[in-house]
Amino acid sequence: MSAEPAATRRRFVLSLPLLAVLPWSLCSAAATPATPAQMLGPFYPLQPDTAAGNDLTTVDGRGQALGTPLTIVGRVQDTAGRAQAGVLVEIWQTNGHGRYHHPHDDSPVPLDPNFRGYGRATTGSGGDYRFRTVMPVAYPGRTPHVHFRLSRGGRELLVTQMYLPGEAGRQNQRDGLFMSVDAAVRARLVGVAQADAPGTLRFDIVIAP
Ligand SMILES: [Fe+2]
Repeated sequence: MSAEPAATRRRFVLSLPLLAVLPWSLCSAAATPATPAQMLGPFYPLQPDTAAGNDLTTVDGRGQALGTPLTIVGRVQDTAGRAQAGVLVEIWQTNGHGRYHHPHDDSPVPLDPNFRGYGRATTGSGGDYRFRTVMPVAYPGRTPHVHFRLSRGGRELLVTQMYLPGEAGRQNQRDGLFMSVDAAVRARLVGVAQADAPGTLRFDIVIAP
């Protein structure tokens, strides 16, 4: 007779953690993890050009930036899959030679007077954004990458970096910042080549609520 109350107690004790964990498990199974954050880095514009658009490949509308043309498209959503409209997406990156248009970049490689170096776009009702730029180039210590900063109403939502896939991103495995991201989610920082749109990378971004 004394065993039964003990078993009942064990069932009760075991059920408490299950009750606590189960709803969380169901929720997390349906949620998409947020895109990993990365450091802002030293080359975010000292004074971001609020008039900059989503085309980094020209400054005056006539000359074209040097480098391999690249289109970046993507969708911003939250962890529940809801499209995020009205998000300001800022990007900045090296020019086609591997230099930032920033006074603190003392690289010996040339500036490109036709490359804007910084762009911004606001997501539409479907959370979509698009940029026209050139392929970023490696510089000492870093694999090619594009910096991203997302904000809404002045509130910063995420700072991260997009890396290149395939052969173009062959140096990713030697990049300390890229490799510092947990291996299970590292691929989320790599743009996805679009078979039906050569020269286009898709970089979907998930932000925490
Ligand atoms: Fe950088």
